[in-house]
Amino acid sequence: MSTASTGSHATQRQVADLPCPRGLPLVGNLLQLSPARLHLILERWAQELGTPYRFQVGSIPITIWTDTALIQQIMRERPHRYRRYQPVEAVLHEMGCNGLFSAEGAAWEPQRRLVMQALSIPTIKAFYPTLAEITGRLRARWLRAAERGETVEMTDDLKRYTVDVTSALAFGEDPRTLERDHGVIQEHLERILPSVMGRINALFPYWRYFKLPADRKLDQSLAEVHRHVDAMMARARERMRDEPAQTPRNLLEAMLVQQQQQAQAEPGAAPITDAQIRANVLTILLAGEDTTADSIAWTLPYLAADTQLQTHLGAQARRVLGNASVCPDYATLKELDLFEAICIEATRLRPVAAVQSFEPLEDVVLDGVALPKGTRMFFVARPAMVDAKNFVDPQRYDPWRWMRKGEQEPHGGPHDVRAYLQFGAGPRVCPGRHLATVEMRLALSMLMNEFSIEMAVDPAKINEISQFTMVPDTMPVRLTKRQR
Ligand code: HEM
Repeated sequence: MSTASTGSHATQRQVADLPCPRGLPLVGNLLQLSPARLHLILERWAQELGTPYRFQVGSIPITIWTDTALIQQIMRERPHRYRRYQPVEAVLHEMGCNGLFSAEGAAWEPQRRLVMQALSIPTIKAFYPTLAEITGRLRARWLRAAERGETVEMTDDLKRYTVDVTSALAFGEDPRTLERDHGVIQEHLERILPSVMGRINALFPYWRYFKLPADRKLDQSLAEVHRHVDAMMARARERMRDEPAQTPRNLLEAMLVQQQQQAQAEPGAAPITDAQIRANVLTILLAGEDTTADSIAWTLPYLAADTQLQTHLGAQARRVLGNASVCPDYATLKELDLFEAICIEATRLRPVAAVQSFEPLEDVVLDGVALPKGTRMFFVARPAMVDAKNFVDPQRYDPWRWMRKGEQEPHGGPHDVRAYLQFGAGPRVCPGRHLATVEMRLALSMLMNEFSIEMAVDPAKINEISQFTMVPDTMPVRLTKRQR
């Protein structure tokens, strides 16, 4: 047994010794769990029971952790000692989406190298003109809405933005969903993540035996999305044939080149299949869309509530952007730190990655608890981020706390960035982080440069929904063009 533990513990506890909310015989806590409110329920139990605790789905214990030092350690001890929770891979595999996010063991590293390259800083720098152009199209959409006095459902517009950006960068193809009203790919993508979540946490995989109407709809959406990706792969192959390049121009080309090279170099080896490439295309689309769009969306109620902050952001955007309506070049992005900070601070309070799941690949002892191989572990992110031990005045929305670089204790209180694990940590840390923060800077500086915003609904009525990521159920905003 390995001793992957922090702190000293005289007596070792077993999983069964951990506190557990009161449940029912046979089903345990199953009936108290509602998938859409999972993170809220786990947070409430964490408040009542401390950390770690467990809950029971039938006879299966699921352990819950909120201590970020322990979670950092787990995240860093991958892929050798911990993996993502096994059902993540099983469920994504049967949906044809088993790419980098869910890959484990030997399959993970080669995929990781390709994706890291495709999302690296030099790649994004070279891609900047397209990024700025897509941000300009988001601006045009918002200008139209402001002129017509329409309320904008921001979750929808921002997803169009992130899908266009991710597709153009990673697959060399811009679906221009920002200019279309219906028939866009994210109508189908939207069905997938909530189903992944429901299936990962299901007690029994009933859908393998019979399908409910929702499962049939999901199958249709999966078929549609797979067709979309296959067509994109066919077009990429044509482009590579008709306009050959010395080096791959994007992630999709890199994967197709690797497939060709492997087939030539190792004719006997297991080939990289189109299904594997398709799975990674889908992974990048799914991983890059909601996370970034919803992080930006969660920022808006905080801006709407603070006209002074909006005025300040507007002035700063005008100073940095000058006559341009979108940040003119990659180098200027570094002057937009505050526009990233307003979003990072929003996700400290509204974490889009609210629950992350792991399991040990061997028996381990963690925090004095003996965890047999395969024990299910959920990390719940928010408690540490709203703990006064880690962030001073933790319930207050204060983007400036992220701007005081090098100061350990702004306001004379703590600011422990290690407790902010919204992008994970260690070898599997989010490879899209740089792209995501560039999108935050671009979209929010463009927004504040041109518009003032107000919420079209009482923000207290916006619900947090667990859908694999944590999303707002709505984010309606009214935009007013600023007078210059
Ligand atoms: C605000 C936006 C985003 C957030 C909060 C976020 C969050 C995360 C988190 C928590 C993980 C798990 C990390 C870990 O296990 O240590 C992850 C992994 C991943 N993310 Fe992101 N992400 C964001 C944007 C993106 C974007 C824009 C892309 C790509 C276009 C992307 C692609 C991925 C991929 C492929 C993985 C799996 C990496 C691996 O397992 O090796 N993410 N992300």
